[in-house]
Amino acid sequence: MELLKGSATPCKGSATVQQMSQQVGKTILLKGWVYNFRSSGKIAFLQFRDGSGSCQVIVTPQEVDAQSWENIQKLRLETSIIVEGVVSKHPKKEEYELQAKSLQIVQAGEDYPIGKKEHGPDFLLDNRHLWLRSSRQWAIQRVRDTLIRATHDWMHQNRFTRIDTPILTPTACEGTTTLFEVPYFDLGNAYLAQSGQLYLEAAIFAHGRCFDFGPVFRAEKSKTRRHLTEFWMMDAEAAFVEHDENLKIQESLVSHLVARALEENRPEFQLLERNTQALEKITPPFYRITHTEVVKKLQAKGSKIKEDDDLGGEDETILSQEYDKPIFVERYPAKVKAFYMKRDPKNPELALCADLLAPEGYGEIIGGSQREDDYETLCLRLKEHGLKTEPFQWYLDLRKFGSVPHSGFGFGLERMVSWICGLDHVRETIPFPRMIYRMTP
Ligand code: 4AD
Ligand code: MG
Repeated sequence: MELLKGSATPCKGSATVQQMSQQVGKTILLKGWVYNFRSSGKIAFLQFRDGSGSCQVIVTPQEVDAQSWENIQKLRLETSIIVEGVVSKHPKKEEYELQAKSLQIVQAGEDYPIGKKEHGPDFLLDNRHLWLRSSRQWAIQRVRDTLIRATHDWMHQNRFTRIDTPILTPTACEGTTTLFEVPYFDLGNAYLAQSGQLYLEAAIFAHGRCFDFGPVFRAEKSKTRRHLTEFWMMDAEAAFVEHDENLKIQESLVSHLVARALEENRPEFQLLERNTQALEKITPPFYRITHTEVVKKLQAKGSKIKEDDDLGGEDETILSQEYDKPIFVERYPAKVKAFYMKRDPKNPELALCADLLAPEGYGEIIGGSQREDDYETLCLRLKEHGLKTEPFQWYLDLRKFGSVPHSGFGFGLERMVSWICGLDHVRETIPFPRMIYRMTP
């Protein structure tokens, strides 16, 4: 932007579509791709995109040199171009246009396989490396980027230190049924991390409050709109935080994420046709309901769920459709939850845990709990879950040297993006989705 600064007279300089509102009347250079175009032979209209946004470029033979007009005849979808022109504002809309003075082709390219017609999901996923350029996919990744930044900001503002947890691990964190095994030299098998939680529990004794944010893996056999085999999780863990405070941290964080997306991503939400009024309601406090109450509610609606059952995907959909804000479902039967959860002192059959369900039918976006902090009890829990204590000795150690009450939670980034963007499936929220039946491109 150096070349353009403070100059009222036309001058040359590379700019982006996003900067055009500051450049009305000036001559700028844009570098990007042809998203769409039509030409009557007398005038050409290009839908141009450069990564920062998209705008209309108008080309007429009177305004451009002969070579530039010839180039117009060579354009295809996704041709890469450099175009110079004068910025003007659309008379009615908050949109900016470029009246071209010259247009240079970087590469004309071949016939682009993704057209304006409807394509099936398999075709689009096979062409994910190209599909990422489509305006909806562009908007989704922009929102994802905002949520990642907003998460880091909120965590740091609230005294959490980022601690990077390992991906190759010797044990399971979330049960043994969804573990990916990797042969590990002479040491037997390693497992791809399902969550960094156990390692964060070690780190809170050094830092008080910690979080991680990275890829985690689940050998999920479920083909649902909520499951990936590789996804991104933000785990948070805090010393001296008990169950109720754990929920307050979560509702404050989630509200912040939604507010930031509303602040930064209005154009993206418009592209996605997301109902932003629904998002504007997302402020603390969120609803709280116990698992026992949920079971009764669902049974009354005809669900076959029993008192001791975990919620199924369909149950979550039905329940969360009823609410206009996220819902904490608290105190699940301990036997359907992980070994590390502390039991409710008022009823040891229940875990001091909560899942946070996003409204509008989205279902679980966060899983969290207070952790068992007593050495002997934790040894017992491992045995009850059929887990050997030896590989968990380091984790048990944490209960020997200054143990404290502590709690934490993990949010699935793709589920969060899917809800906030109002999507049908998590596969569109991650650049290159991995699912039971897909790991290409
Ligand atoms: O509920 P989960 O399994 O909780 C844990 O892993 C805890 N160790 C977290 C913690 O307390 N630090 O997973 C957390 C979240 C879920 O609420 C969901 O949003 C997401 O991770 N998630 C998935 N997202 C996409 N595909 C899958 N297969 C997922 N499994 C869980
Ligand atoms: Mg869960």
